[in-house]
Amino acid sequence: MEKNIAVIKGDGIGPEIVTEALKVLDTVGEKYGHKFHYTDVLMGGCAIDATGVPLPQETVDICLASDSVFLGAVGGPKWDTLPGNLRPEAGLLGIRGALKLFANIRPAKLIPALAGACPLKEEITKNGLDLVIVRELIGGAYFGKRSTTVDENGVKTAADTMAYSDYEVERICRVAFEMARKRRKKVHSVDKANVLDSSRLWREIAHKVAAEYPDVEFQDILVDNTAMQLVRNPSQFDVIVTENLFGDILSDEASMITGSLGMIPSASLGATALGLYEPIHGSAPDIAGQNKANPIATILSAAMMLRYSFNLGKEADEIELAVNSVMDAGYRTGDIMSEGMKLCSCTEMGDLIAAKIRT
Ligand code: IPM
Ligand code: MN
Repeated sequence: MEKNIAVIKGDGIGPEIVTEALKVLDTVGEKYGHKFHYTDVLMGGCAIDATGVPLPQETVDICLASDSVFLGAVGGPKWDTLPGNLRPEAGLLGIRGALKLFANIRPAKLIPALAGACPLKEEITKNGLDLVIVRELIGGAYFGKRSTTVDENGVKTAADTMAYSDYEVERICRVAFEMARKRRKKVHSVDKANVLDSSRLWREIAHKVAAEYPDVEFQDILVDNTAMQLVRNPSQFDVIVTENLFGDILSDEASMITGSLGMIPSASLGATALGLYEPIHGSAPDIAGQNKANPIATILSAAMMLRYSFNLGKEADEIELAVNSVMDAGYRTGDIMSEGMKLCSCTEMGDLIAAKIRT
């Protein structure tokens, strides 16, 4: 199989972690006879520096013409003072919107070898932790109308609109139920229907979709309660479906209880096979360029790309198994380091995982 992949290395640790992930992809490609062609495109801070905007049109065009998009991370203190629409983050939201990637899949799984890095007590995690957050990605407050105004008394007011239409809720709920069918057949729909109109619509539509999936156990849960339940009893969750802002927050929480933000990949999907794959963590400017970053979330994002965009499940399994076996062998980057383990750099981690695949 041959595939064209648009690559956004991005800022901070982005280039380092992407390099390791492409190394692993090429290794899998060699083993199974696939060829991946990469086209580097600019987005985020580096795009601002080179072109003045976080998301050049050329980047959108190349991404749209590719089989999938692979992304490291964007942003950094250098661009923090720019107005909102010119920040690196605007590029990320822009590319998700331009590619119509409405479904963001964020699996949070406790790797047994990393149980020690989990900040929760053993009695809480003894039943394991294996959930997926299905986050709506191109609606809600991040895409709604915003404004900042000053009235005649000098009072400054800012507003962001959290709006959802029925079809937006319906399509993301469908993704969640389909996913649940391939897993433990359980969906929690997260909202704040005791307060928000957008959540009341969300709940109404979620129930309609749930009725089409009688084989899937379904439950509504309020977002504040979800935040609490995630640290109280995370093993109760299988698939969590929620709107953009709630999903952003809950997925950081869920990732931390697996031990590190550095371990969680994500896939952003739309109605076609074209997807965008990225780790859920940021660009970590404090450790950029030091060969210290954990490339595993990015490497696991490559596995998700193989699985979801290219339908190469066996190859994806191969990457995931290699990551587990390198963890079992005791190799750790700094973020997941613990006593008695072997500290390794970003490139060493990539090499170890690639080597495992080769054997
Ligand atoms: C994420 C990030 C982004 C988001 C930011 C950088 C815009 O936090 O992917 O979770 O909120 O979606
Ligand atoms: Mn986030």
